[in-house]
Amino acid sequence: MYTKTKALMQRGSAFLGSEWAILCGAMSWVSERNLVSAISNAGGFGVIACGAMTPELLDTEITATKALTGKPFGVNLITMHPDLFELIAVCGKHGVSHVVLAGGIPPKGSVEAIKESGAKVICFAPTLALGKKLLRSGADALVIEGNEAGGHIGPVSTSVLAQEILPELAADNLVFVAGGIGRGEAMAGYLEMGACGAQLGTRFACASESIAHVDFKKAFFRASARDAVASVQVDPRLPVIPVRALRNKGTEEFTAKQVEVAKLLDSGSVDMGEAQLLIERFWAGALRRAVIDGDVEAGSVMAGQSVGMVTKEEPVTDIIATLLAECESALSRRQAA
Ligand SMILES: Cc1cc2nc3c(=O)[nH]c(=O)nc-3n(C[C@H](O)[C@H](O)[C@H](O)COP(=O)(O)O)c2cc1C
Repeated sequence: MYTKTKALMQRGSAFLGSEWAILCGAMSWVSERNLVSAISNAGGFGVIACGAMTPELLDTEITATKALTGKPFGVNLITMHPDLFELIAVCGKHGVSHVVLAGGIPPKGSVEAIKESGAKVICFAPTLALGKKLLRSGADALVIEGNEAGGHIGPVSTSVLAQEILPELAADNLVFVAGGIGRGEAMAGYLEMGACGAQLGTRFACASESIAHVDFKKAFFRASARDAVASVQVDPRLPVIPVRALRNKGTEEFTAKQVEVAKLLDSGSVDMGEAQLLIERFWAGALRRAVIDGDVEAGSVMAGQSVGMVTKEEPVTDIIATLLAECESALSRRQAA
């Protein structure tokens, strides 16, 4: 089944140890034991979102995920987490096979520490130059994620990143493409350009196995691409990473939060690092309110532009089967032409 897709994903799936090179990108609060194990059990590759978890909580989450799947899964760690090295040690203790480092350039020694634990390291490459640098520093694979994605985003679209990075790096390195992928035809396009697999978040967030609140899921089903907007930076001195989420009251609250944090910065009561941490804590709290409590008005309903293609709750196996069928038929059409 899906032989053309399988052939193009072969390098990616061999690296991940999964049947298909389809990662479900880590989504804070959403990517926990249930969704992660469902993705891996369905032949994809689930990734636990560590987010702001303590090492103890991560330890519990990995144990619980292992109880639900015997298949490989990864753990996504945010580079600015104050306990990053302890979290790496927790992954090592459990023999986690893949660690994804997100949220910025990995701090000194982190890539080495992960590799010493026996795990493979996956990093996000925001530009070609940084991608090359990350590979030189020991990253085993890269994810390139475009501006269409849900959650924290970079400034460049997936299609442009793919054109800049895949022709240069994908033949000799493992590069997964993320951001704005809602259907298998898009996956097919990136695979043909040399990607070894795809990472999706938005498309999986409302799977039946996702613990996201029913109102969070309904907000996704109602939304169209243009509702998933990027946050705006109000103060040039406070460089905040933009976040793509459904437009609501929470979007406005973020503007107010930035003003508040900028004032703290001005008064000297926090430094830039602390200011950025305050912003990140705001997002973690706002996302929790939406995902867990179902407050889709004041919380942050992070979603990518592909949200318009998410119309109903479906089991992960059905989502993956649909993506594979769409990918395979696109590849077959092109090869037949
Ligand atoms: C609700 C939500 C939460 C997310 N949280 C995280 C996160 O904690 N860490 C991370 O690296 N990426 C996070 N992402 C990004 C996803 O891992 C993934 O790369 C992205 O969703 C892919 O683009 P797509 O949304 O267009 O499919 C999040 C995305 C969403 C939609």
